[in-house]
Amino acid sequence: MSSTRCEVHALALDEAGHGTGPEAESGDGRVVHVADLLPGERAEVAIDHQSPHKAEAWGHITRRIGALSPDRVTPVCPGFGRCGGCVWQHLAYPAQLAAKHRRVADALARIPAVADGSVTIAEVRPSPSVIGYRNKGKYVVGRSGDHVVLGAYAPRSHDVIDTLGCQVVAPVIDEVATWLRGAVEGAGMLPYDERTRTGELRYVIVREAAGDVLVALVVAPRTPRAKLEQVANAISKHPALRGLVAIENDRRDGAIIPSGASAQVLSGHGFMIEELAGARLEVGAGEFLQVNRAQALEMYRRVVELAEIRDGMAAVDLFAGLGGIGLHLARAGAAVVAVEIDRDAVGALRRAARDAGLSLTAIAGDAADVRGQLTTNPDVVVVNPPRKGLSDQARALVAEWAPPTILYVSCGPESLARDLIALATRGYAPDVIEPFDLMPGTPQIETVVRLRRRGRR
Ligand SMILES: C[S@@+](CC[C@H](N)C(=O)[O-])C[C@H]1O[C@@H](n2cnc3c(N)ncnc32)[C@H](O)[C@@H]1O
Repeated sequence: MSSTRCEVHALALDEAGHGTGPEAESGDGRVVHVADLLPGERAEVAIDHQSPHKAEAWGHITRRIGALSPDRVTPVCPGFGRCGGCVWQHLAYPAQLAAKHRRVADALARIPAVADGSVTIAEVRPSPSVIGYRNKGKYVVGRSGDHVVLGAYAPRSHDVIDTLGCQVVAPVIDEVATWLRGAVEGAGMLPYDERTRTGELRYVIVREAAGDVLVALVVAPRTPRAKLEQVANAISKHPALRGLVAIENDRRDGAIIPSGASAQVLSGHGFMIEELAGARLEVGAGEFLQVNRAQALEMYRRVVELAEIRDGMAAVDLFAGLGGIGLHLARAGAAVVAVEIDRDAVGALRRAARDAGLSLTAIAGDAADVRGQLTTNPDVVVVNPPRKGLSDQARALVAEWAPPTILYVSCGPESLARDLIALATRGYAPDVIEPFDLMPGTPQIETVVRLRRRGRR
C-alpha cells in the first residue's frame, strides 16, 4: 500500500511547476508531484492526493533534505506560487530553456525523422525579455473584504488572487489595471460572484500596442450604465488610454469574451493599432495576438526565411489570426490566402492588407472547410493551430494540396508529434525543428517545424 509520507528526489517539472520524481525506496514506482521542489532537490513529503487510476500522487514538503538547486532563483512576481500563472519563475532562465527543450524532445522522440537521427531539435531560441513582455493582461474580478481585487483564480479554486504588481505584463498594463481598480471601487461597481451569479464586473482585459492601451470591462447584463460611465471618465485621464469598451457576458462556461459578443465603446476608440509587416491592424479586445510581440516577430521572420519565398509564390496561412505570419509572407512577395475562424480578425486583416497594398486574401471560416476555395495548389502551407493541433480533416486537406513545403508552428508539442507522425504517412518529413520561447516563466513552448514532401505531387 502507498504511504502517506515519503521521500522524493525531483527529476523534472510538470506543467503546474511542481517537481516530479519517484518516491525513494518504494517498490510501486509511484511518481510524486511536489510544490516548490526543483529538479535535483530532495524532500520529505506528505501526500495530499493519490490518483485512483495510476501510480501518481501529489504532496507538499514537510522537510527539505540536502542542498537547494543551484538553478533556484527568487521569483520576480509578488503573486508567485499563488496566482498559478508563471509557475517556473523560481527556475533560472537557462534551466527553463533546457527544460523546454526536453519537453519538445520527449514529445517528438517517436517522429520517424527524429528517431532515426535525420533531423535534430535546435536549442530553444530565448525570448529577448523575460519580464514585462506580455502585451495583454487578463484579470478576474473578486473581492477581499470591502476591496475589489483584480487577479487570477488560485489553482483549482474560485478564490481570486490579487495579481496587481505582476512583472510579466508590460509596465503600462499593470499601471492602468491599478488605476482601474481604484476607479471601479470609486464607482461602487460590484465584483461578480460566480457561485451566486450576482454582481456586475466579471473580468477586465488590458491590451497594449505601441504604448497605447485598450481596456475591456466584461460585465453582467444590466450593469448600470452610470457606473460604467463613471469608470470610463476616471480611467480616460490616463495618458496611455486609447479606448475603453464594455462587453456583456452571461455565460457559465468560463469564456471571458463570448464569441460574437459586441463591444460598447465608453471612451475613445473600440480598438488599438498593431503594426505587423508594415500593415496597420485594428485590434479589439478579443482577437488572438501572440502576447510576446518581440519574440513573435523573431519567429515570424524565421518562418518566412524557412519558407524560401520567391515573388509570386502561392502561400496559404491556415489559422491566420490577425495575419502575423501571412502578412510577413505577403511582404516577402508571396500571394497569400489566409484562413481564420474569427470574423473580427478576418475583417481587420482584410482592411490592413488592402491599405498596405499586400497580396493577401483573407477567408473567414474553418481551416478544414476551405477545400475548393483555392484556384491553384499552394507552394507552401503554414499551419499555426491552437494547442489541440490539426483536425483529421484539416490534415487531410493540407496533404491533398500536396505543397512541396509545409511549415508547422505549434504551441502543443504533444499534438505536434501526433500530426507529424500522421503527415509522415503522407510523405512529409521534417528537416528543421526550432523551438522558440514566447512565454518565459511558464512551461509553454512554441515549435517551428519545416516539412518537405518526398517525391512529386
Ligand atoms: C495559435 S493562433 C495563431 C494565430 C496567428 N497565426 C498568429 O501568429 O498570431 C490560432 C488561431 O486559429 C484560430 N482558429 C481556431 N480554430 C480554427 C479553425 N477551426 N479554423 C480556422 N481558424 C481557427 C483562432 O481564432 C486563432 O486566431
